[in-house]
Amino acid sequence: MSDTVSVEFLRRRGQAALADHLSALGSEDRRRLEAELATVDFDLLERLIESTRLPAPPAPERISPPAVVVKGAHPDVDARARALGEALIERGGVAAVMVAGGQGSRLGHPGPKGTFPGTAIRRKPLFRVFAEKLAVASRRRGRPIPRCIMTSEENHRDTVTFFEAHRYFGLDPSSVHFFTQGMLPAVTPDGALVLKDRASLFRSPDGHGGTLRALRRSGLLDTLASNGVEHLSYFQVDNPLVDVIDPVFLGHHLLARSEFSSKSVSKAGPDEKVGVFAVADDLLTVIEYSDLPARLREAVNPDGTLVFSAGSIAIHAIALDFVSRITDEGLDLPFHLARKKLAVTTPDGASASVDGIKFETFVFDALVHAATPLVMEVVREHEFAPIKNATGVDSAESSSALQSALFASWLDAAGCRVPRNASGAPLYPIEISPLFADSADALRRRLSAPLRIDGPTYLGDAE
Ligand code: UD1
Repeated sequence: MSDTVSVEFLRRRGQAALADHLSALGSEDRRRLEAELATVDFDLLERLIESTRLPAPPAPERISPPAVVVKGAHPDVDARARALGEALIERGGVAAVMVAGGQGSRLGHPGPKGTFPGTAIRRKPLFRVFAEKLAVASRRRGRPIPRCIMTSEENHRDTVTFFEAHRYFGLDPSSVHFFTQGMLPAVTPDGALVLKDRASLFRSPDGHGGTLRALRRSGLLDTLASNGVEHLSYFQVDNPLVDVIDPVFLGHHLLARSEFSSKSVSKAGPDEKVGVFAVADDLLTVIEYSDLPARLREAVNPDGTLVFSAGSIAIHAIALDFVSRITDEGLDLPFHLARKKLAVTTPDGASASVDGIKFETFVFDALVHAATPLVMEVVREHEFAPIKNATGVDSAESSSALQSALFASWLDAAGCRVPRNASGAPLYPIEISPLFADSADALRRRLSAPLRIDGPTYLGDAE
């Protein structure tokens, strides 16, 4: 941070065009822009610009698929894990952390992504889905599980207003903590800062890697620690099938004494857009789909299965001590660059689209710093139905179909006959509120007699 951002200072830092612009502004605009520039870490900016000029990092010398614990493979170990995880949750040792600071541009939804209608019948906003799940998890343990929601400057106000307007979806407001991630300035390929409007910089959220620093900076890390929280259950705002507090996963995380554990699913095919877990030069890591060379993406075992098949579903268990430690140590996550057109304002006040570079950090890049990290494979159909795109793959439509299919399997297990089409998909959309039942077992206990399914079916508590 710099407290004297003068025209001269900008020139010395190689931002001549911005210096000219600043000196030409009227006093009100100039004060606004100076105030914003005073919040920019120019040493960090130099590192960002430097990163745009560096060659791609060398490929690892050795790379192999990781060892993966498969949920359900060893019921006795899962039972031990469940008991440990339950004990942790019951003593108040877990907080849920949802990252919801992204821009959701692919979805084309105005407003925070969590306000998007994500369920098959009631079209409940995603925020509500997670709130209902957490309410059930809390009720079961007789105590509110803290819920931390990461927003960004761009959607913080709208997110909080949405929760207030919906009375926190029944959660105890004192257990809901919003915290805001950092922003990073975008630059042109020449390293020049760009403007959003005449008196403000073009900046964007610093990626979900910003979660760790934002937890620390906001004071939430200390609050959680002093309330007895030991581990975070981390998930993204885009997956309505996420198990927000999974005792078995948390128990395996404890059994392994892992500081950072992650869930994986077997990749649907070489081109599925998920990061993959790999051991690169002896360190567990996630390689983002856009960075995985075709040779590794398509590599197959003798039986035809993918070698790098452990796809990340971005669900993690993270030790609070780990977050403290790495943020104390200065947390140096690598920058990922997104080269794209930016809608900027030129110094003379015109709108323009220019080539630019945005910067992000990724939370899973912290994995390499973690002791004994763990990957646990789960059943995709049970836990992963993301909504990322407006249409097609990973859209609301595909997610609703996956949600209906899961709920249909719960109804099957409860003895109901679910009509299906030739490919086995349920004929009608089905939605089961977590408040009604949050698992096949819970549904079986809840239904006193099999239900007749002859149309779209919603099972929920009276609302
Ligand atoms: C992400 C993962 C990918 C994983 C997939 C699973 C990244 C880079 N990739 O892909 O490895 O397989 O999910 O579904 O994350 N977010 C913030 N602040 C930010 C940026 C993002 O809170 O600055 C949040 C978003 O709100 C969202 C989540 O992070 O909840 C995912 O971000 P997104 O950029 O959409 O990642 P994906 O490409 O979907």
